[in-house]
Amino acid sequence: MANTNVRLSLALDACSLTIPQPDSLIVNANDTADYSKLGNASCIQWFKPTCDRLIEIGFKTFQDFSSVNNFALVEITRSKPQSLGLIAQAFDTLSKNSILMIDGNKTDGIESHLKTLRKLFNIEGVISKAHGKIFWIKKSTRPQILDQWLKGLEPTKIDHNYSTKAGIFSANHIDKASALLLENLPNHLSGNGADLGAGWGYLSSELLRSNDKIKSICLIEADWNALECAKLNINDKRAEFEWADATQYKKTKYDFIVMNPPFHLTRKAEPDIGKSFIKQANELLLPKGQLWMVANRQLAYETTLDSYFTTVNSITETPQFKVINASRPKKQIFR
Ligand SMILES: C[S@@+](CC[C@H](N)C(=O)[O-])C[C@H]1O[C@@H](n2cnc3c(N)ncnc32)[C@H](O)[C@@H]1O
Repeated sequence: MANTNVRLSLALDACSLTIPQPDSLIVNANDTADYSKLGNASCIQWFKPTCDRLIEIGFKTFQDFSSVNNFALVEITRSKPQSLGLIAQAFDTLSKNSILMIDGNKTDGIESHLKTLRKLFNIEGVISKAHGKIFWIKKSTRPQILDQWLKGLEPTKIDHNYSTKAGIFSANHIDKASALLLENLPNHLSGNGADLGAGWGYLSSELLRSNDKIKSICLIEADWNALECAKLNINDKRAEFEWADATQYKKTKYDFIVMNPPFHLTRKAEPDIGKSFIKQANELLLPKGQLWMVANRQLAYETTLDSYFTTVNSITETPQFKVINASRPKKQIFR
């Protein structure tokens, strides 16, 4: 991260802006980046844990674009249509002649964005550093293709008429692991449940459709955009939607929890996130509550499951995934 901070710092120096620029915007702001040169910029961020940390360090955060800005920095995402849509949105909020900077890693496609924008705008400067690039343009005539890029941010329909958006988990299809979990869920689930890391709502939607013994399901999801899609996908009074960090959520206790926990936030596997979800399931379940989860087969969650639940059963395994049922949450003394 240190070198990517140098990349931004060099770019800000090179484009001779008066820094800090009033009314600056950072799109997909990163909580580990150093934006101190940008003063009290407004940050657009949809991932709740990142948003919470940005607020902690003093930034105002938003999920939608609104005001007019005099400077914008777009940190690209891993999704090409989402990044292009965000570039178009940022462009549209800028006042004339303002600078729009676009920053990102090679692995996230920054070079392809530079190539695309070069065909449409005069690129004012480029800095390559730390396996990535930052480049900037000045707000000028608006190319019509930006309308198409904006469309890339709108919800689209996938299998079974589900709505998803670019950039969210499993945006193009139903996730295979979640489908396997659903196939293996018992039909006697009842009472109040939670769906941890609910995504665009596949598991909850199917459960509510097929099971009238369920009184409620709380969809707890950190990605604002995914949760917005879940709201489009589920029209059932028993569904509740919480934009929250599931590992910190503590409002109530549940009879059952279903989850296909995230196993990475970056590109490499990070089993600790799944372990935090298991620990949280232990805390959120009633004494007779049941956890039903699916995970990639190579992720070693068994020791964690055994330390938080008295009974742990493997329900099925495929070459890729495993479905696990855990019950009788152990009382945690050292919390
Ligand atoms: C493997 S996906 C499963 C999504 C959904 N359950 C499905 O079946 O399609 C994991 C989900 O957890 C979300 N997530 C990641 N970290 C989270 C956190 N700390 N709190 C809540 N949700 C989180 C991700 O945004 C993603 O939607």
